[in-house]
Amino acid sequence: MKKLKKVIIPAAGLGTRMLPATKVIQKEMLPLAGKPIIHYIVNEAIKAGFTEIILVTNENKISSESYFETSFELETALSKISNKTLLKEMREISNLKAKIINVKQNKPKGLGHAILTAESLILDEPFAVILPDMIIDSNYNLKNLALMKKNFEKTQVSSILLGKCKKSETQNYGIVKVKNKNSKNNFLEINDVIEKPNPKKAPSNLFVAGRYVFSNEILRYLNKEKPDLSGEIQLTGALYNFLKDSKTLKGLLLEGDIHDCGNKLGYLIANLAFSFKDKKIKREVLKFIK
Ligand code: G1P
Repeated sequence: MKKLKKVIIPAAGLGTRMLPATKVIQKEMLPLAGKPIIHYIVNEAIKAGFTEIILVTNENKISSESYFETSFELETALSKISNKTLLKEMREISNLKAKIINVKQNKPKGLGHAILTAESLILDEPFAVILPDMIIDSNYNLKNLALMKKNFEKTQVSSILLGKCKKSETQNYGIVKVKNKNSKNNFLEINDVIEKPNPKKAPSNLFVAGRYVFSNEILRYLNKEKPDLSGEIQLTGALYNFLKDSKTLKGLLLEGDIHDCGNKLGYLIANLAFSFKDKKIKREVLKFIK
C-alpha cells in the first residue's frame, strides 16, 4: 500500500480575472484577512498530512517562492524592536512541517501541463493536487482532502472533491456524473466528467472543487493528452480518458464553505468570510455595512 506524501499546487496562472492586481503579483500571494492565499493552501496540505509540497510557479511575478524562505533582514529588525509575537509568526512561515519545493512552468499551457512540470519530482509515487483558487473554510482542514488522503492509503483508489453549484454555474467548472448517490462511506463513484458544460449539457450540478488525489497512472493519461483549442493541456481530458478505460475514480462531497478566489467577487466574499473569524472585526464590518 503506497502512502501519499506529495502534493502539487499549480500557482503559475496568468490571473487574468484579477488584473491589474495580478500584473506583477502572483494571484496566490493576494491576502485573505491579512495572510496570502497560498499560506492557507499550504496549511491545508500540512494539516491533511502531506510532507512534500511542490509549488508550480512562473518566473515573471513576485512569487510565493521567497514567502516561505527565511527573511534574515526582517527577523533581525523584529528582534531589535523586541516584537516577539511577530518574530515567532515569521519564523513559523519558514519552518513549516513540510518541505516546500519550487518548480517553474515556463509557458501558460494549462493545468495538465502544470502537473506534468512536476512529474520528475513525483517519480512513481501517488500524489495530490490542490487548486489554490478554491479556498475552503480552514475549520474543515481535517475533512475533505485529509479524508481523501486516508481513503487512498486504505484503498489505493483515486478521488476528487465535489461541491454543489447552481445549474447556471456549470460552465465555470468541471462537472461529473456519479453512479450511486447512496454509497456507504461517503465516496461516490464517478463515471463521467466534462469540462465547463453549459447548463443544458451538464450531467449534474456536482462540480470539481480543486482537490484531487491520484494514483501514479494518471501521469500516463496526462502525457497522452493533446492541447485543446486554446493550446492548454486539460486535466479533465486526462480524467475523461482514465474513466473511459474503466479505471475507478471516486468523489467526496465537500464539507464547509468554498470560495472561488480567482475572480474579484469571490475574492471579496472570501475576504469577508475569513475576516469574520475575528469577532471584533466582524462586529465592526457589519456595523459599517449597515
Ligand atoms: C479548473 C478545472 C475545473 C475545476 C476548476 C475548479 O478550471 O479545470 O475542472 O472545476 O478548476 O476551480 P479553471 O478554474 O482553472 O478554469
